Amino acid sequence: MSQLAQSMSRLGTETAFDVLARAEQLIATGKDVINLGIGQPDFKTPDHIVNAAIKALKDGHHGYTPANGIKLLRETIAVDLAQRHNVGVDPNHVVVVPGGKVTMFFAILMFGEPGVEILYPNPGFPIYESAINFTGAKAIPIPLREDNAFSFDADTVLALITTKTRLIILNSPANPTGGYVPKYQLDRLAVGLEAHPHVNILSDEIYSQMLYGDRRHTTMLSYENLRDRVIMLDGWSKTYAMTGWRLGYAVWPAHLVEPATRLAINCHSCVNTAAQYAGIAALTGPQDKIQEMVTAFDERRQVIVDALNNLPGFRCTDPGGAFYAFPNITETGMTATEAQNKFLDSAGVATVAGTSFGSYGEGYVRFSYANSIENIKKAINRIRQCL
Ligand SMILES: Cc1ncc(COP(=O)(O)O)c(C=O)c1O
Repeated sequence: MSQLAQSMSRLGTETAFDVLARAEQLIATGKDVINLGIGQPDFKTPDHIVNAAIKALKDGHHGYTPANGIKLLRETIAVDLAQRHNVGVDPNHVVVVPGGKVTMFFAILMFGEPGVEILYPNPGFPIYESAINFTGAKAIPIPLREDNAFSFDADTVLALITTKTRLIILNSPANPTGGYVPKYQLDRLAVGLEAHPHVNILSDEIYSQMLYGDRRHTTMLSYENLRDRVIMLDGWSKTYAMTGWRLGYAVWPAHLVEPATRLAINCHSCVNTAAQYAGIAALTGPQDKIQEMVTAFDERRQVIVDALNNLPGFRCTDPGGAFYAFPNITETGMTATEAQNKFLDSAGVATVAGTSFGSYGEGYVRFSYANSIENIKKAINRIRQCL
């Protein structure tokens, strides 16, 4: 029997993929399943982006690129960040990686080890807690609460910091809650962090372009006093409907660019070259398809939140961003996992139990509204019947 390293027993997973696999098994047996479990846009990557990748391949871009990414791509990212967030970024501080996840894994590997504490949002993207545990560091949850619309309170976060804290992970807009952290809370955090110069920040901003109503995104890069310790994670997966292309990036503080690049060289050498050319086309080309997609998500958001609030035993706060609703289902009498299983097995609707995103997710279920309004309505009606 092969013996795995101890650390492998601490590595978790993303159960959304298990739900997807179970839903696909059911579909294979002829069952009609509506998928509200998946965390990816149901739109296709816009044609001009696909064509840029085809052109790159036809033009002979088949070899390795620099490990941190093609220079033109990193320059284009810097221009995009200046336009969207009004921040100055040195293209040499950008490291392009295969997806958003890779930055979080690298940042957590870089800082995590036994004896160290890392703060992370709970409920939150499951890979944060999994990767922290893998390194042997102690995962300290930042509880996100429904009564605060799943935002966070800067004072609560600051109170969790100890001399052992090396990294704080932030995610706004958030998966799985759709929660959004307003600027005044980030301002308070930025001021409070001045008293803790040993603490680094990983700001996962992958949903920054999916905000609704009058909400505006504030990037952690805009806090000049923190620029030497903020890692800003972003990517193409959600914004440009490019989850399968595996393309993401981070802006690193100057002194962390070399270790991040060294991890990239050890891990994947560089990102698929054609995908990098597609990334340039995405950032420089027309943005109308992105606007259309966000408008469609906003319409669906209103439909699903209303419908969920009308289900017996359900209570759903208004998600400010991303494409998830995270209703409280405690009054149905079911646990999160029981509800997830019942919705899939009895109603043919795939959702993800809140506990897949951490212990504070008990009593909640994540519904992704990356599906048509027709399917969303049908799914909620089926759930009503099985309740
Ligand atoms: C908050 C958050 N960060 C990062 C990612 C990972 O994105 P990618 O597919 O680009 O690795 C996801 C994907 O669901 C996410 O929800």
